Amino acid sequence: MSTSPSSRPALHAGPAVAPVPRAGTTPPLGRGGRHAATYAHRGSSGMAPENTAAAFELAIAEGADYVETDVQLSADGELVIIHDVTLARTTDARRVFADRPPWNVHDFTLAELKKLDAGGWYAAEFAGQHILTLDELLDLLGDRVGLNLELKSPAVNPGLARAVVARLRRRRDWIEPGARRWPLVVGSFDEQAVRDFHTQLPDVPVSLITYDVPAGGRLADLAGWVFSVNPDIRRLRPEDAARVIEAGLALVPWTVDSPELWRWALDLGVDGMITNYPSALKDLLHGRDPASGTAGVVIEDIRYHSPGDGAREHVVLRNVSDQPVDVSGWYLRNQASDRIVVGDGHVIPPDGLLRVHTGPASDDDGRAGAFWNSTHGDSAGLHRADGTIVDLYAYVI
Ligand code: G3P
Ligand code: CA
Repeated sequence: MSTSPSSRPALHAGPAVAPVPRAGTTPPLGRGGRHAATYAHRGSSGMAPENTAAAFELAIAEGADYVETDVQLSADGELVIIHDVTLARTTDARRVFADRPPWNVHDFTLAELKKLDAGGWYAAEFAGQHILTLDELLDLLGDRVGLNLELKSPAVNPGLARAVVARLRRRRDWIEPGARRWPLVVGSFDEQAVRDFHTQLPDVPVSLITYDVPAGGRLADLAGWVFSVNPDIRRLRPEDAARVIEAGLALVPWTVDSPELWRWALDLGVDGMITNYPSALKDLLHGRDPASGTAGVVIEDIRYHSPGDGAREHVVLRNVSDQPVDVSGWYLRNQASDRIVVGDGHVIPPDGLLRVHTGPASDDDGRAGAFWNSTHGDSAGLHRADGTIVDLYAYVI
């Protein structure tokens, strides 16, 4: 297991008592250590297509405390579960509705959205997954797991907070204090949307999703009405983590995808972590090896593309065992769930290296892009051909 670079110093764990939300149901949080809550980011999205029934069911089976997911509005005002503001990346909309670019979610009715496949892009075995409505998601989850619902992109989904409030008011079992064993937390990057939601349903705990931890005065204000702050792990500094804890807010960073980052965050005293790999995080929290531990191959380095460095981006795999390892058909996923498959005939000798070149890539609109994030950092899952995890790696820039 490896994370690089990770030179940031660790802090001592914070206070032992986690903040309690205002609703009657207490989220399963605990400051640092094995009791930190596991939030499955868009479901178990390192192993199944994000925001689908398959990813949510897997997250529950893996013992996640929460599923985190994203809700938006369709053209006819239905609440639908999808992350991107367009359908292009996670459905077959380009093929099914070839004449309707740029495939904005809010330009399609629910009936049209239901025609799309939301799983085949990820792997053939998931073909047939569909975009869920919020009601379908609530039915699927029942009282089996917590829900961290993100009001996604309210600027392009006007009235989103109001629509979610209206829907939840028709699902009293989700909002009555004490009615559920597992909590509901509603959040957004958009503070006004969080305020709008909170004003209407003050008993439901809310979260503010951020890149950086808010400055002191704003943090103090948030502490009066917000349950948790969700900062970007790649930009979280120990002193900012301490400020969140000191303010009495729950600290739940996103998206934390390697054992080294998990340990680092636990040392900061986080209350929970949002991850694409909830099963592996659960393993770590319970003192087990987060990967199989038997494959003998690790991700040693990721050379993301930096402008001007002239190098083609690539991943370095090392065989740390004393036997040759055939990695044909193994694959790597980045945090956005893009996949690179190792071709046939690749056997790494003992202590040998394999460089898996990936870019530069370009998307279907012709924009140049690179596979590995070169702005803030990224993470990689190395999987055998059958999908099992071999290694998890993250880097922070
Ligand atoms: O909840 C935080 C996290 O989900 C925010 O990132 O882009 O995956 O919605 P994103
Ligand atoms: Ca989200």
